[in-house]
Amino acid sequence: MIVDRQGRRFRNLRVSLTAACNYACTYCVPDGKRLVAAQDELSAEAMVRGVGYLIEAAGIERLRITGGEPLVSPKLEAFLRGVSPLGLADISLTSNGQLLSRKLPLLLESGIRRLNVSLDTLDPVAFRSIARGGDLPTVLAGLDEAQAAGMRIKLNMVPLRGQNLDQVLPLLDYCLEHGFELRFIELMRMGHLARDGNGFQRQFVGMPELLAMIGEHYDYAQADAPVDATALRYEIPGQGFFGVIANESVPFCRTCSRLRLSSTGWLHGCLSSSNRHYVGDLLDKPRHQALPALQGLLVKALGDKQEVAFSGGVTVMKIIGG
Ligand code: 5AD
Repeated sequence: MIVDRQGRRFRNLRVSLTAACNYACTYCVPDGKRLVAAQDELSAEAMVRGVGYLIEAAGIERLRITGGEPLVSPKLEAFLRGVSPLGLADISLTSNGQLLSRKLPLLLESGIRRLNVSLDTLDPVAFRSIARGGDLPTVLAGLDEAQAAGMRIKLNMVPLRGQNLDQVLPLLDYCLEHGFELRFIELMRMGHLARDGNGFQRQFVGMPELLAMIGEHYDYAQADAPVDATALRYEIPGQGFFGVIANESVPFCRTCSRLRLSSTGWLHGCLSSSNRHYVGDLLDKPRHQALPALQGLLVKALGDKQEVAFSGGVTVMKIIGG
């Protein structure tokens, strides 16, 4: 097993199935242009082989499927069928929920029982101006259907000053009522936001401010979370849980166990590093050739992790999906 000096190793793999997305969220893309699939995206079969090799070479235990938006990808079905029998402890998916109703039968059939759905507001007008695609009632209907079918659902909200701070409490109320776990994600300096002058400082809302807003309406207490969790979890007794992914306020790099594979075949050991390692060519090779080469790249990818705190980067969020 590949372990670094801080005792970190890769356990959680996030595979970006495609860079394409049916939204164009303001914090993700600067110009409102839709993200499209890259020309050189890997096939579902190559990605499945990649997951299998990474289980062996890196000790991957859990898989999360991301994008772009994974539900828009024509590779979804073949990928799910390929990874289901690999013996992973958990397969989950992060989505914007727009196609959730339509894809729900496939997700259920493939054994997926946990979804993270991005939802930054319950106000349809603000929704349009943040997501710049899709529509709110479709997402809400998809969430209800998924829950009725037995999915465990977390909602991700990125609080943005000037855009959706008035939605912190309405979204929390909505989640507590519906039995969803809401997670606030502090804005990260990714992509265009990594460059000065693009609004990071203006829009950023930190955990202390969020907790103060929540504290005015709810009593909460810190709850347990796995050691390598990115979210701090809180319980509102008798009502439910919420979390904060506080990459700025309480960095979690010291316990990070994530590895990312992009849709074009690059391994990323850290979201905040511009280093990446090409493995697309290895995935066509037989196991005895691929694994030793992969091990070498995994050592490098693990070395890309930050010591303590995330500093952001211009590269990957929109194509790697968080
Ligand atoms: N900062 C914080 N969260 C982000 N996401 C995408 N870009 C950013 C950013 N710059 C969120 C999405 C999604 C999750 C995977 O990451 O809203 O819910």
